[in-house]
Amino acid sequence: MQKSLVSIDDFSKEQIVHILGLAAEFEANPRQKILEGKVVASLFFEPSTRTRLSFESAVNQLGGRVIGFSDANATSVSKGETLHDTIKVITNYCDMIVMRHPVEGAARYASEVASVPVINAGDGANQHPTQTLLDLYSIAKTQGRIDGINIMMVGDLKYGRTVHSLLQALSHFKANFTFVSPVELQMPIEYKKFLYEKGISYYETSDIMERMSETDIIYMTRVQRERFADTMEYERVKNAYVLRRDMLNDTKDTMKILHPLPRVNEIHKDVDNSGKAYYFEQTQNGVYARQAVISHLLGLK
Ligand code: CP
Repeated sequence: MQKSLVSIDDFSKEQIVHILGLAAEFEANPRQKILEGKVVASLFFEPSTRTRLSFESAVNQLGGRVIGFSDANATSVSKGETLHDTIKVITNYCDMIVMRHPVEGAARYASEVASVPVINAGDGANQHPTQTLLDLYSIAKTQGRIDGINIMMVGDLKYGRTVHSLLQALSHFKANFTFVSPVELQMPIEYKKFLYEKGISYYETSDIMERMSETDIIYMTRVQRERFADTMEYERVKNAYVLRRDMLNDTKDTMKILHPLPRVNEIHKDVDNSGKAYYFEQTQNGVYARQAVISHLLGLK
């Protein structure tokens, strides 16, 4: 039995497909009371709107209870308590831990300390596996398939944990990748090497229009100010890409735009009602995908 979900690599292709099937089941019936008597600890050491609230909504709709915090400064971490001790204690109070932390590897460490399953809700620039599952579910819903899709990832591909997880998952489905970013924010070499070793080609450009007409999914990302050590570098690249409605004229009818959100200015508001935007529906899919992961890891589905 799979215990924790720290990296999307923890799931095989078969498990991913199973989770997507469960998500569809939960979308059809999201209020199955299968978590009655269960307690999920929601530990957010870093800000969040969608991930925290969709996890909490997922648990509540399934009849479970949520404990936790969204501000670590209001916990004994502010008195110097270590992550080890925090997890060692909270594991006594719950059946599962959902954790977001700014340090890469923190979720893996927590999963080794905890005696209950841990779900990584984002660790630094590393991984965001449940975002990936809801992204895959959104791709399948909008395209009717995942296999062989043409995906264009745009923006902060260096620090964006969502694109790192999604790339790994899509490698199971032989996706065709186009990476669009400024040189400073290119996809890290280890992910390009990962694709190369799997025999999957990718195309890298700084021109967002170059492959627009053949794209099935545009995956926009925010340039993440909080990940930059050098604020001058952030200022240089923060406005690198702004997607406007007039840029979508020569796109496939079925093309959809995803974004993990929050957005700052990388998608103009005039795109929202273009018929191509799917980023708000995508957030709804997060509840079903997270219900699927929770119930799977607890051995209930
Ligand atoms: N997509 C995402 O992780 O959003 P939040 O930071 O609001 O959770």
